[in-house]
Amino acid sequence: MRSLNPTSPKLASTPRAGLRATMTANRSDAFVFFGATGDLAYRKIFPALHALARSGDLDLPVIGMAREGWSLEQLREHARESLQDSGEMDQGAFARLSAQLRYVGGDYNDPGTYQRLKHALGDAARPLHYLAVPPSMFATVVRGLANAGCADGARIVVEKPFGRDLASSRELNRAVHEVFAEPAIFRIDHYLGKEAVQNLQYFRFANTFLDPVWNHHYVERVQITMAEEGGVEGRGSFYEEVGALRDVVQNHLLQVTALLAMDAPAGRHPDSVRAEKLRVFRAMRPLGPADVVRGQFRGYRDEPGVAPDSDVETFVALCLHIDTWRWAGVPFHIRTGKRLAATATEVLVDLKCPALAVFDRFSPAQSDYFRFRLGPEVVIAIGARVKQHGEEMRGERVELVARHEPSSPMLEYERLLRDALNGDPGLFTRDDSVEAAWQVVEPALDHATPVHEYEPGSWGPSAAAAILTGAAAWHDPRPEPYPPC
Ligand code: BG6
Repeated sequence: MRSLNPTSPKLASTPRAGLRATMTANRSDAFVFFGATGDLAYRKIFPALHALARSGDLDLPVIGMAREGWSLEQLREHARESLQDSGEMDQGAFARLSAQLRYVGGDYNDPGTYQRLKHALGDAARPLHYLAVPPSMFATVVRGLANAGCADGARIVVEKPFGRDLASSRELNRAVHEVFAEPAIFRIDHYLGKEAVQNLQYFRFANTFLDPVWNHHYVERVQITMAEEGGVEGRGSFYEEVGALRDVVQNHLLQVTALLAMDAPAGRHPDSVRAEKLRVFRAMRPLGPADVVRGQFRGYRDEPGVAPDSDVETFVALCLHIDTWRWAGVPFHIRTGKRLAATATEVLVDLKCPALAVFDRFSPAQSDYFRFRLGPEVVIAIGARVKQHGEEMRGERVELVARHEPSSPMLEYERLLRDALNGDPGLFTRDDSVEAAWQVVEPALDHATPVHEYEPGSWGPSAAAAILTGAAAWHDPRPEPYPPC
């Protein structure tokens, strides 16, 4: 085993532009992706590489690794199909990507595979290795890279799921840390690359009016819904191993929660945001059985790869408490599911009613709010009350839209790959945060609570209402643009 990879961004307290310049000097000089013939490469990595080529940022060899005995021509054809399918094909960018593409095939357990990779890397001194392979292969590939000298000066990108509970994520961290130091490890959570998630973070800390109200004095509750109309889409056997809590709550939805709940980062070091998020993860109360309702859509058990008596959840609703001075007593209601009534991810921050009903009386459900649509559209909106026309001092709620884009102009993976190539770790998850997030969900994993059946096309089991407090109801995201409430 080789010694620890010392690649470490030299960050000081540089503004982001300056930071990018520092990072660029440290830019990777080859991109290697394991799992080149797989689904993730097809759906995400080729489109991201193509986008980098289009913006002139793909000036390095791109080496696809796979177990299949393919030829380079086959891999190029595969990339072409991926881009045609994505509807983004630009012939010039594809030609540039094609020209950089190499292929190395072989068994990941065979040291010869890594020797061939070493040869293909030539004199590259700072390769970026992307592991688009199942987590069970991480340790094998990392060791193979180290033994062949391919890890020297390198960085590594690993895909979620990072473990399946606290113990396995610690074990994975240990295995990867044997070769790569933490600053050289880039754990992907694609939600952090979303334009709408970036804008949520920007909006929070660029607007003075938000700061005084962003706490338990003014916020009644926070709701996050991540709804998908689609089912498990042929990934039944994968989904049986994870379920909704592991698939999207431990990572995407807790990351979004942390961005909503964190304090302002101190300074401009990229780790300052990650440090604040970690404080939030550590303040999240571990979920108890009364905080979680699990559901499963009718028909899930008939999917290929799914056990006929499976009790894996395809839906989960939970009530999270964050024990900080800022959020004491404010419930965070989080809900996600497959085969629901719509595809939308939305955050609603409900403000309290005014202290006294001076004119008309209205319920908290009619009071002010902030709404962030994180997908598929990008929306930031504010709900406010105005007087209705007429004699009476009666009001109605209207919505002020600060941003509405039908979709994001930049691909999440394009942003994340560019950052990883530049050695900028800010949008990647750190070992301590991943472990802290597992600590939150762990008591609710597997068979901790019963699973309720729900109708495909609904908003999940009615039992999900049980975790709401007071007069709260679930807010179902509606098609954009929103009519006034
Ligand atoms: C992935 C999950 O991480 O995120 C999928 O594994 C889910 O099950 C997907 O469908 C949703 O991502 P997005 O960006 O479409 O909201």
